[in-house]
Amino acid sequence: MDTVVSGIRSTGNLHLGNYFGAVKNFLRMQHENKCFFFIADYHALTTHPKPEDLHGNIRQVLAEYLACGIDPEVATVFVQSDVPEVSELYLLLNMNAYIGELERTASFKEKVRKQPDNINAGLLTYPVLMAADIIIHKANKVPVGKDQEQHLEMTRRFARRFNMMYGVNYFPEPDAYNFGQQLLKIPGLDGTGKMGKSEGNGIFLADTPHEIRKKVMRAVTDTGPTAPGQEPSEPVKNLFTIMKVVSDQSVVNYFTDKFASCEIRYGDMKKQLAEDIIKVTDPVRERINEILADKKYLAKVVASGAEKARESAAKTVREVREIIGYKPF
Ligand code: TRP
Repeated sequence: MDTVVSGIRSTGNLHLGNYFGAVKNFLRMQHENKCFFFIADYHALTTHPKPEDLHGNIRQVLAEYLACGIDPEVATVFVQSDVPEVSELYLLLNMNAYIGELERTASFKEKVRKQPDNINAGLLTYPVLMAADIIIHKANKVPVGKDQEQHLEMTRRFARRFNMMYGVNYFPEPDAYNFGQQLLKIPGLDGTGKMGKSEGNGIFLADTPHEIRKKVMRAVTDTGPTAPGQEPSEPVKNLFTIMKVVSDQSVVNYFTDKFASCEIRYGDMKKQLAEDIIKVTDPVRERINEILADKKYLAKVVASGAEKARESAAKTVREVREIIGYKPF
């Protein structure tokens, strides 16, 4: 059985793309592995969130993952800052992370470009904290998207370097979790590329039916097919892609035929699509609100997650201290 660690950004709500992508994979993973899922709220500080927003963001993201079916009885679900052991491992790893390699990290260079007035040391050492998150539980698998591959590569390097430096075979070098062909990509509503948090093209699980209808009706299309057998344009293809995920096959067939015979009315298609999306998201949205209202339940989940995560983390830190040479007097 593999040990899996995955950090979840504490900003941004889950959208349909996350729901059919990362979240579905989490649900599958949790039953097949020993999983640690945590809200990365130390990492969140690199962007200087306001104190009055921080806690609300953490609660919201946690509630959304739980509502999707992450099971805290099966996986260890916790909040990063509840496990301060990770900050000690981060400190220790920082001693053999080199400025040059940190400055060359793609995500750091991008931040330097995008937020030149807040290039803090936390950003520079972001990959070290992420490595600590992972190896503190001696994980051997990490589910990562393309944007995190370099960070995982650095994690492997830091683990290997520690082992070399102290002549031990202590930390495993974690690999990317391989999802095979099962990764579903959901496109956005703006006609280009995939659904994202910042692109303004997303449907969020927390959106009300009214908001969803409005967004779908505004989705980009084109002037319609002019000859039978024509290929749909990119934006229309995207609507069909979403439809294939949320609608019944008969509905997809109906609109595919209408398109092929040039009789399609995008307004009708969008109305149907909106209702089918709502059928998927509405029970989740209700569950999110239920969980958010249940303070006791959330407190219990977080406390038991922290206890399990700390047990595993404290053991590692204790052993690492010993390897490094700290001794009791
Ligand atoms: N950097 C990850 C992201 O932006 C979040 C993260 C933090 C993470 N620590 C992690 C992911 C450890 C996997 C494992 O999405």
